[in-house]
This record gives sequence, C-alpha cells and structure tokens, in this order.
Amino acid sequence: MSSVTPRPFLEVKDLTVRFETDDGIVQAVTESNFSLEAGKTLGIVGESGSGKSVTSLALLGLHRTRSNAKVSGQIWLDDQELVTASDQDVRALRGGKMSMIFQDPLSAMHPYYTVGAQIVEAYRVHNPKVSKKAARERAIDMLARVGIPQPSRRFNDYAHQFSGGMRQRAMIAMALVNDPKLLIADEPTTALDVTVQAQILDLIRDLQQEFHSAVIMITHDLGVVAELADDVLVMYGGKIIERGAAVDLFQRPQHPYTWGLLGSMPRLDREVRDRLTPVKGSPPSLINLPSGCAFHPRCPYAGRNGDRSFTDTPVLTGGAHAVACHLPAEERAKIFKEEVAPNL
Ligand SMILES: Nc1ncnc2c1ncn2[C@@H]1O[C@H](COP(=O)(O)OP(=O)(O)OP(=O)(O)O)[C@@H](O)[C@H]1O
Ligand code: SF4
Ligand SMILES: [Mg+2]
Repeated sequence: MSSVTPRPFLEVKDLTVRFETDDGIVQAVTESNFSLEAGKTLGIVGESGSGKSVTSLALLGLHRTRSNAKVSGQIWLDDQELVTASDQDVRALRGGKMSMIFQDPLSAMHPYYTVGAQIVEAYRVHNPKVSKKAARERAIDMLARVGIPQPSRRFNDYAHQFSGGMRQRAMIAMALVNDPKLLIADEPTTALDVTVQAQILDLIRDLQQEFHSAVIMITHDLGVVAELADDVLVMYGGKIIERGAAVDLFQRPQHPYTWGLLGSMPRLDREVRDRLTPVKGSPPSLINLPSGCAFHPRCPYAGRNGDRSFTDTPVLTGGAHAVACHLPAEERAKIFKEEVAPNL
C-alpha cells in the first residue's frame, strides 16, 4: 500500500501573474493556491478586475502570447506541470484536454467560417486521423447535444446568423467537441437573458455529469455559484481572500468582503428596487495596492484589531475553509451572527 496521496486532478500552487505596463506593474494574480477534482465544479467570484479571467487564461497558457506577462508558480493538470511546459505541449492540451467557453462568442468565433466548419476544425486539430465526414458527423452530433434545432442545416450557418443563446450553445459545442477534462466557463451567460441563462447553465451541468469534466465557473453572480459550485474561491485585488466548500461559504462566510458580496445577492423575498446593494467603495488599483489588507479602505471592521489591517497583509489560512483576515475567528463569528446575518 502506498502512503503517497495522489495529486488532485488540477492543482495550482502559488500562481502569480504580473503585467508590465507603462504605468507600472499590474499585480493581476498573487500567490493563488487551489485544487479541483474531476467531475467537480469550482466557482470563482469577485468584482471586476479582481483577477478571475487572468487566472483562467494562465491555466490555458494564453499569457504565452503576451510579451508583457510574467507567470510563476505551478499548475499541475493531471500530473503534468504547465507553467514550465513547452508551448507545443500546452497548445496540444488547449481545446483538447482543457477548453474554455468565453463570455462573448462573437469575438471567439470566426466571422468568415461557418459554425460547423469551426467545430470540425477544432475536432480535427486534436484528431488529425479522423475523416472529414466523421468530423462533420461529430460536429452535427455536438450541435444537437447542445440543443440546436435542425443541426445539419445550422451547421452551414455563420455565427452572426445565430441568436445570442444559440451562439453560446454553438461555442459550448465547440468547447466540448474533444471531451475536455477541464472546462473553464468565463461569465458564459452574462450577455444572455435570464431564461436562456438558466438553460445554458443546465446544459453545462448536464454535459459535465455526462463527461465527468472538472469545471471552473467564473462569475459575478453568487446565485450561479450557489447553484452549480462544489467549491468557491472569492478573489479580491488579485488574491484569494476566502476559499472553501460552497455550502460552508454560504452558511458561514468568513471574510468581510464575502459578507458584502452575499449582501448584494438578489433575493426572491425582497423588492426588486432594494435587491442590489453592491459593496461600498471601489475596487483597488492593482498597480498601487493598498498597504496591509487590500480591502481595508472598504472594510467596516478595519480598525477593530489594532493597526494590523493597515500594515500587514493577511495570509490565507485555515485548511478546508480558508480566509485571509486579521480578525480572530471568534470575533468574526460574533460579528457575522450579530451584525451581518440578520441583514442578509
Ligand atoms: N495584458 C494585460 N496587460 C495589462 N494588464 C492586464 C492585462 N490583462 C489583464 N490585465 C489586468 O489584470 C487585472 C485583472 O483582470 P481580469 O481580467 O482577470 O479581471 P476579472 O476579475 O476577470 O474582471 P471582470 O469581472 O471584469 O471580467 C485587471 O486590472 C486588468 O486590467
Ligand atoms: S484584515 Fe482587516 S481590513 Fe482586511 S478584511 Fe479583515 S478586518 Fe477587514
Ligand atoms: Mg473577466
């Protein structure tokens, strides 16, 4: 019997991404640590500019085409390390073992090729020996699977001939054509109306169960996370500030920023007009991050524990449910129970 614990399917260690710009160094992602098992869904939430997309692009190796990007740390996918892997190896994985559904299918799909031709191409890049006819059958089958009516006719349409929801379905078909083991969905439904959003999310969930893929779901919407995610990362200023199982995070959120996010979640029993109370204040500059805890300018509890929030950067600690905040756990539990939970 071996005592060595197998590596999780995806394991990210100290992932750090910097962009050099004329204005200074953008600290887009700082020392990110997380893992994900096959068949599970990880939700990544946080405000605009918190580093969600940069995290996922780094997993896919897309920073390799950006000369101003510096990436360090380790990304283990199925026992293969990707930060130091060759461009060729990473390209071979992209669109195959790992693929991505982007927010805007129009910009991700080519205007001059038919939707079908693009799915065929995506398939044949990774399966060069497959005949054109078989690839076409596979593409039509995928279009049917994602719920596109008359798939063999729609195969010959261009992306602009599809409605928004249909385009998103076609992009999902393209992302899934090679049975990816890791699927990253970056705000896959933001551009769609609520009914279509729900259909697309159901579709991703069904296909995930069928293919047993690991899914990373990036979203502003905690409702989506509550519905789909097993685990959650909350990002702020390029860092993970809370990480845990979705159930724990929703029942016992630990970080004051997460409390703010939960407070901004729409609830069915509230009037629409007071549904959204976003966290007060603005996101930090990633070039000049605030000293100490990056959240301190917006945190109502920053002064409660001496000056530490202003001077020391809190480290993510706590095992399965981890949080980066200087307040002692008992004090946070008390604040949550007495001041926060009654207003959620
Ligand atoms: N190529 C680049 N050069 C310089 N800065 C960049 C580059 N790409 C991203 N950034 C910066 O990195 C930071 C994190 O961006 P990211 O796209 O990950 O945010 P996000 O959390 O996905 O936000 P949103 O919710 O708006 O999609 C932002 O400040 C962004 O401007
Ligand atoms: S470390 Fe301080 S400023 Fe940061 S979240 Fe905790 S209490 Fe607020
Ligand atoms: Mg983004």
